[in-house]
Amino acid sequence: MNQTITVFKGDGIGPEITDAVLAILDAAGAGLSYEIYRVGNQEYLENGALIPDAAFQSFERTKVLLKSPITTPIGKGFRSLNVTLREKYDLYANIRPAKSNPAVKTPFTDVDIVVFRENTEDLYVGKEERIDADMVYATKIITRKASERIIRDAFEYAKAHGRKTVTCVHKANILKMSDGMFLDIFHEISGQYPQITANDKIVDNVCMQLVMNPGQFDVMVMPNLYGDIVSDLTSGLIGGLGLLPSSNLGSDYAMFEAVHGSAPDIAGKGIANPTALLWSACMMLEYLGKDEIAAKIRRAVDLVLADPVVTTPDIHGSGTTESYKNAIIAHLA
Ligand code: NAI
Repeated sequence: MNQTITVFKGDGIGPEITDAVLAILDAAGAGLSYEIYRVGNQEYLENGALIPDAAFQSFERTKVLLKSPITTPIGKGFRSLNVTLREKYDLYANIRPAKSNPAVKTPFTDVDIVVFRENTEDLYVGKEERIDADMVYATKIITRKASERIIRDAFEYAKAHGRKTVTCVHKANILKMSDGMFLDIFHEISGQYPQITANDKIVDNVCMQLVMNPGQFDVMVMPNLYGDIVSDLTSGLIGGLGLLPSSNLGSDYAMFEAVHGSAPDIAGKGIANPTALLWSACMMLEYLGKDEIAAKIRRAVDLVLADPVVTTPDIHGSGTTESYKNAIIAHLA
C-alpha cells in the first residue's frame, strides 16, 4: 500500500518545483500518495490564512511533510511560516548536507559538510521589544534541553555515517553565557564519543575558513542564527541554493524542504532548479526506509547534472525545469 505524505505547494517557484519533484518520485516508483495543499502568501490573499486548517490537520495525520518555499511578508503581523511550523511541531533538528558534485563546476571540489542547525530557539524565538522610538531589544534564548538534543544528534549522525569530526560553531568569546553554555554542553557530550574528533571555532573565523579550506570541515553543529547563515554559505561552495536540501526532524514529525526561498525574481519563467527539493525528497525517502528508491534518484540526478543542455541556468545550464525533469525521468526509465 502507498504511504501517504503531506505536500505544501508554496509561493513563487514553489508550485513549479513541486510538480517536477512529484513527477520524478512517481517515475521512480516511490510508492507514495500525496495530500497536496496550497500554502503561503497567495493562499493568504485569497482565503485569509497562510496555512489552511486542513493542511495542518493533514500533517498531523501523515507526520511527514514535503514543503516548498513560502514568501514571508516583511513587516508587522506576520510570523514566518517556517518558524511557526518548526515550533508548532518541535522540528528541532535542521540538517543541511552540502556536497560537491563533479558535474557542477565551482572553485571547490572537496566539500562534504553536514550542518546541524538548532531550529527552535536563539534569536528566532522572535521576542523583540521596543524600548523607545529609537531602541529595540531582541532576545536570544539558548536552553540546555535544546542544545543537548541537537549536539547529541550531530554526534549520533557522525557515528552512524562514519564521519570523523564534529565542529561546534559559536561566538562564546562575546556571548559568554548563551553561546558559552552551548559550547560547554558540546564539550560535555563530545566526551561520550571518543572515536570522533571534536573541535570548536568562532563563527566569523568559520566563514573565512569555509571559503579558504572547506575540506577541513565534516559535521558542524551550531545555534539557529549561525546555522541559517553558515548553511547558505556552504550552498555557495557547491554551486548555489538550487542544490541545498534539508530535513527538519523532531520526535514525532518530519519536514523536508529546499533551503532556498520562493525566488520571486525567476518565478513563472520555467527555469527554477528543482534539485534542492528533489534531494530533500530523497532525504525523506531515506527517512521512510525507501533507501533504494532514493539511491536510484540520486544516481539519475548525478548523470543529468553533467548535461548542460538540460540543466537550469543557475548552474550554468541552458535548459529549463521541464527539460531537467524529463531527463531525470528518462534515466529512471
Ligand atoms: P531566495 O532563496 O528565494 O533567492 C535567492 C537567489 O537564489 C535568487 O536570485 C533566486 O533566483 C536564486 N534561487 C533560489 N532558489 C533557486 C532555485 N531553486 N533555482 C534557481 N535559482 C534559485 O531568497 P530571497 O530572494 O531572499 O527570498 C525570497 C522569499 O523567500 C522571501 O519572502 C523569503 O522570506 C522567502 N524564503 C522562504 C524560505 C522557505 O520557505 N523555506 C527560505 C528562505 C526565504
